[in-house]
Amino acid sequence: MRKKFVTFVLVAFVILCVWALWSTNKEVQNPYVPKISYHQFLKSNILSPSEHFCKKSPFFTIIVTSYVGHVELRSAHRRAMPTDILKSMNATRIFLLAKIPPTEKHLTQQAIENEHSIYNDLLQGSFIENYRNLTLKHLMGLKWVSNKCTPIYIVKVDDDIVFNLANTYKLLLSLGIQQNLLMGYMLNNTVPRRQKQNKWYVSEVEFTGSMYPSYLLGWYYITTSTVAKKISDEAIYHQFFWIDDIFITGILRKIVGIELKQVPKEFWLEYYELLECCITDMIKKSIQCPYTVGPNGGRVNLIIEFNKIIEQCNQWRNCSTKAIKPLKDTCIVGKERRIFSDGQGAVQLIKS
Ligand SMILES: *[C@@H]1O[C@H](CO)[C@@H](O)[C@H](O)[C@H]1NC(C)=O
Ligand SMILES: *[C@@H]1O[C@H](CO)[C@@H](O)[C@H](O)[C@H]1NC(C)=O
Ligand SMILES: *[C@@H]1O[C@H](CO)[C@@H](O)[C@H](O)[C@H]1NC(C)=O
Ligand SMILES: *[C@@H]1O[C@H](CO)[C@@H](O)[C@H](O)[C@H]1NC(C)=O
Repeated sequence: MRKKFVTFVLVAFVILCVWALWSTNKEVQNPYVPKISYHQFLKSNILSPSEHFCKKSPFFTIIVTSYVGHVELRSAHRRAMPTDILKSMNATRIFLLAKIPPTEKHLTQQAIENEHSIYNDLLQGSFIENYRNLTLKHLMGLKWVSNKCTPIYIVKVDDDIVFNLANTYKLLLSLGIQQNLLMGYMLNNTVPRRQKQNKWYVSEVEFTGSMYPSYLLGWYYITTSTVAKKISDEAIYHQFFWIDDIFITGILRKIVGIELKQVPKEFWLEYYELLECCITDMIKKSIQCPYTVGPNGGRVNLIIEFNKIIEQCNQWRNCSTKAIKPLKDTCIVGKERRIFSDGQGAVQLIKS
């Protein structure tokens, strides 16, 4: 009798424990994981360019992720690389936007539509602008371009970086025709931020591992329609991870089995003071700036100046190609700076 009672109590206790564990587990749901499926947003867009507009330019398409309110930055990209120059390279450009967020008081959808009616180069998604929705925006661009335009190459850039078109074109020509290319600035061995105060905090539920797969910095990378299609087709079978560069060029590209390629290091100016020095050297000392990509440091029109001066150097053929000392030794940057300090991964300290 007593034995039976003890057994009963024990069994009841175990059941209670299991129940308690199960129910608390259910309560600890992660607030950062979206509760709705985001895949639906890839099905329809608010604005898109006409399809024949990009079909006629089969070599490459530049996709520029652009915050809907960055009207001036888009204008700078258009002035730095006008449509007729793009056309001469068999290229087009599309800006990737999302819906105007409620915090934006001065911008109207009508203004965006007017911009689109003039340039016919906006692809606007049906989700709201937010850095946590960047994965959606990025996938929207890869999906649309690889289905509607099918160029050989896709060059993905952010609206606040500076890049040179002529050097990009030269690089693409040198690649020949490839199917499975994903090339940019590789970031290896980066780890998730686990401090809740960090803007880039990532919970264990969002990303379980202790290290991200190698991925490409989203500033500027090169891929193909083939890869873009593979990745955007695969994406819908997975829970979206909101850090777009890591999800798309790290996690998904690993699943579809694409290897990353490193763009030569000499391609990159990691901070904008270097870009300014490079421009100054071209103007004052006629030293050709050999770099192709850098951040604009908040200077909207730097992309225009950079492209114009490199073109002049190329046209006049009187810029010297070799500097006496490396730019990084002569350019004064002032204080300690962090490269890629957006917290998305590699953070290197640079001392000058
Ligand atoms: C552009 O593409 C067309 C059609 O494929 C081709 O005939 C033409 O040579 C290309 N032009 C350039 C500048 O690549
Ligand atoms: C992302 O877009 C969806 C759809 O418009 C919206 O409901 C959600 O609030 C956005 N995410 C953030 C973090 O703003
Ligand atoms: C990352 O690793 C690759 C080789 O796997 C290497 O070519 C590349 O330079 C590395 N990138 C960085 C930033 O260290
Ligand atoms: C290069 O040519 C341009 C235009 O002819 C001229 O203005 C500039 O001074 C020249 N630079 C050098 C270093 O000769």
